[in-house]
Amino acid sequence: RNIDVSGLVDHEGGLLDRAVFTDHSIYAQEMRRVFAPSWLFLAHTDQFKKPGDFFATFMGEDPVLVTLTREKKLKAFLNSCRHRGARVCRADFGQTRNFTCSYHGWSYDLDGKLVSVPNEAGYPESFERDDWGLVEVPHIETYNGLIFGTWNPSPIPLRESLGDMAWYMDAMLDHDDDGTEVVGGIHKWVLDGNWKLAAEQFATDWYHVNMSHASALMVMSPTGKGPRDEIVHRTGRQYVDPNGHGAGFPVHTKNRFDAKTVHDHTDYTALRERLGDARVEGPLTNGHATVFPNFSYLPVNGSIRIWHPKGPDKMEVWAWTIVDKCWPDEVKQAQRLYNLRTFGPSGIFEQDDGENWSECQAIAAGFITNGVALNYQMGLGSEREDGRYPGTTSELYSDAAGRSFYARWRTLMNTPAWHEGDAR
Ligand code: FES
Repeated sequence: RNIDVSGLVDHEGGLLDRAVFTDHSIYAQEMRRVFAPSWLFLAHTDQFKKPGDFFATFMGEDPVLVTLTREKKLKAFLNSCRHRGARVCRADFGQTRNFTCSYHGWSYDLDGKLVSVPNEAGYPESFERDDWGLVEVPHIETYNGLIFGTWNPSPIPLRESLGDMAWYMDAMLDHDDDGTEVVGGIHKWVLDGNWKLAAEQFATDWYHVNMSHASALMVMSPTGKGPRDEIVHRTGRQYVDPNGHGAGFPVHTKNRFDAKTVHDHTDYTALRERLGDARVEGPLTNGHATVFPNFSYLPVNGSIRIWHPKGPDKMEVWAWTIVDKCWPDEVKQAQRLYNLRTFGPSGIFEQDDGENWSECQAIAAGFITNGVALNYQMGLGSEREDGRYPGTTSELYSDAAGRSFYARWRTLMNTPAWHEGDAR
């Protein structure tokens, strides 16, 4: 039933088989062995202010409902009625006391407890409501405003699974003690393409920027000279995490949030004191990153997003804009608009990326094409610890974090998960 994927990922040689993007059995195994045991991003804490606030999302392809209980505890449940399996909540988000299934009317409270059953007298005496509550996600943890959950009954703690990646994440999440909040709505759009195409690019791929985004960079260039002046000659680093996370960032001493209003408002001296020079001169205002498996972010834009898998050749992108809570409203709105123009669903950079992923996916299933390996060899052997950045880093233009992403994927795909029991 499970496929040994060792032959599909050669992370030491930098080769990848395209079956990882197209094979339906591999995709089903990903749901069992990559998504089910991993910490998965659910929502931002700012979405839960009052008891009864809820948000519907997915863990892999499983629908889940995140709630804030009366005791102000964050919980998450499988959004599937225990009676015949309908979704108990079809709204995207909102505020409620109970969730009443619209099929036959079973009702669940914010703790997932079954509290009302129409015609309950018709059930046998052995029927106990307590036995038929919503299935709860066993572990929920937060990190600087980001809520993650896992189905794994005995996971390593979230903070430990983030490892040194947390240092890079804090360049976006920890500008001051007030933290971040969500501004505007959550954009959702569907793309043709395997979820890993997006996740690996955000972990590792600065290489595409000059080519794929050339016209966008020309439009955005303050000098009008285009990408050659703006990006090509930049140097930088790429963080390579043993758990498959990755982050790439140009390094520059010139601090700059791209949205002018945000830049003008920013106290870079205070940020240097809090975060240190190394983080301010790179991870703070540049780059992109992925927390394995499918959560990514763009610090300079305030964009956080998740790549929901929807089959081997489709993904749904959900994207939030987050800002520092302490910013004045006009600064928050400036960041929101800047993010929408660049990385909203019709943003000038986002359009380029989606086009590339769909293009790679469109031809990957061809019989001959599928057997031709892909190259992830840039920066082979360049990984090192240099003391300025936590953990292992590579060159800015490198596939190192991509190789690490697929090495982690390979390990999980070849490791029986807790739910396989003796059948492994
Ligand atoms: Fe929910 Fe029947 S499926 S009450």
